[in-house]
Amino acid sequence: MWKGKFSSSIIIFFLILCSTANSIVKASFEDEIDIKRSDFPEGFLFGAATSSYQIEGANLEDGRSLCNWDVFCQIKGSIANGDSADIAEDHYHRYMEDIEILHSLGVDAYRFSISWSRVLPRGKFGGVNQAGILFYNKIIDNLLSRGIEPFVTIHHFDYPQELEDRYGGWLSPLMQEDFIHFAEICFQSFGDRVKYWCTINEPNLVSEFAYERGTYPPAHCSPPFGNCSTGNSDVEPLIAVHNMLLGHAKTVKIYRERFKSEQSGVIGIVIHSFMYEPLTEDKLDKEAADRALAFNIAWILDPVVYGDYPPEMRRYHGSELPKFASEERIILRDSIDFIGINHYATLYAKDCIYSSCICNDSICTKGSDRAIRGFVYTAAEQDGVPIGEPTGMPRFFVVPRGMEEIVEYAKKRYLNKPLFVTENGYSSPQNQVEDYHHDVKRINYLKSYLAFLAQAIRNGADVRGYFLWTLMDDFEWSNGYSVRFGIYHVDRQTLNRTPKLSASWFRNFLSNRSPNYVESSNAISFMNKDVSMAQSE
Ligand code: NOJ
Repeated sequence: MWKGKFSSSIIIFFLILCSTANSIVKASFEDEIDIKRSDFPEGFLFGAATSSYQIEGANLEDGRSLCNWDVFCQIKGSIANGDSADIAEDHYHRYMEDIEILHSLGVDAYRFSISWSRVLPRGKFGGVNQAGILFYNKIIDNLLSRGIEPFVTIHHFDYPQELEDRYGGWLSPLMQEDFIHFAEICFQSFGDRVKYWCTINEPNLVSEFAYERGTYPPAHCSPPFGNCSTGNSDVEPLIAVHNMLLGHAKTVKIYRERFKSEQSGVIGIVIHSFMYEPLTEDKLDKEAADRALAFNIAWILDPVVYGDYPPEMRRYHGSELPKFASEERIILRDSIDFIGINHYATLYAKDCIYSSCICNDSICTKGSDRAIRGFVYTAAEQDGVPIGEPTGMPRFFVVPRGMEEIVEYAKKRYLNKPLFVTENGYSSPQNQVEDYHHDVKRINYLKSYLAFLAQAIRNGADVRGYFLWTLMDDFEWSNGYSVRFGIYHVDRQTLNRTPKLSASWFRNFLSNRSPNYVESSNAISFMNKDVSMAQSE
């Protein structure tokens, strides 16, 4: 499997150094990391990721309808600096330039999402917008003609506002049917060329932000989590996830029964996956870190692998945790071909069952002492020492070892199911203007996270690909344009794209192929690779 090896003692030294609980990543060591593409297996897909709402703009053009985020952006105070994504990066008009950029980087694959309101402006209540189909056809065809594999997310946070207005979006089981309809249109229209599908991006994060903290549309929450005009933070996130999981499972069933034999693709789900480490050596904090993983990751993955919610959640939740009927458990079980993890950061976890937890810093989440949070308080400091360097996002601390740990967690809990790192990237600390172009910190971040990913693979994890978040500075949801994750800088006035230093680094990294590198040409044979050997490793 391995064509390349870590040979440098510097890397080993670095890995040991970073494995100690209190280590803070030092740029001087990161500079020495010698991670190469050839350190990854044959056929491993390297790519960049984006999402429709964050880059497309053209929000009312060619038949697209208003989506939930368009409406949310109009509410004063919901987005930093009053930003909106009406224009975003204008990718709708500049997609050819962006595809050329991807090509010039030398990526194998491009992960992007389909705008629901561009393809089905009224969901199931109206027809297909052919202009939307045409737009994604152009993207897919141009990617393929440049040898770039489309890796498509069907639903990445945005949906037609009409579905919210009619029945409350993901709080209603009706949304499952709408999602299935949307997915079927995608399979019918694009499935002859798309071999990698992700049903839903980060159901765990959406439900937390939209229905618990109220910082994403439809902005539902209740005290102590936040002050919203409506919502129930203890219950609604569970209902929304329940509907997303069933929508996912029913969609996968349809894909496998009606499309897969002809289209030969694979399908998975993408989760938001922070790593959690115990705040202290105390057994209770160790259990809290395990609970944090169960309440965030296993919440989504246990149902789609094993057919039901994790026992840890059953233990602490009462009747508010919805139940799956037996026929639902059957369709949920094994409803993914791969796991997609979006991994950026690690936090400390502290027990709130036996100790009191008061939220008194800027990054803790209110309500840690509630079942919905698993009775876990998350923190970024241990005895005043930060877990890692801060970034442009309040809770995203740089902890490269977390990449190996999270992959190891998924490997163990899900019997080494094939996995893609569907997102990983760095946002420059706000106002550090020099970092907007000369983004050495981003390069160091990427190198060190990749080194730990390679280590996880060496330990036997069946990881099939890695997508860098993100191609260009974009609309970072509630943070608007104040947070920059891109390896291309986007000028907000001209929307011109300029490569940052990290873009050149990524291009060089990607061109450094091992002598035995083989281009992946067929997703299905790749995914059908016998994983039983890997599972027994
Ligand atoms: C994950 C989300 O999928 C993406 O949309 C977002 O921009 C990144 N996290 C960074 O926050």
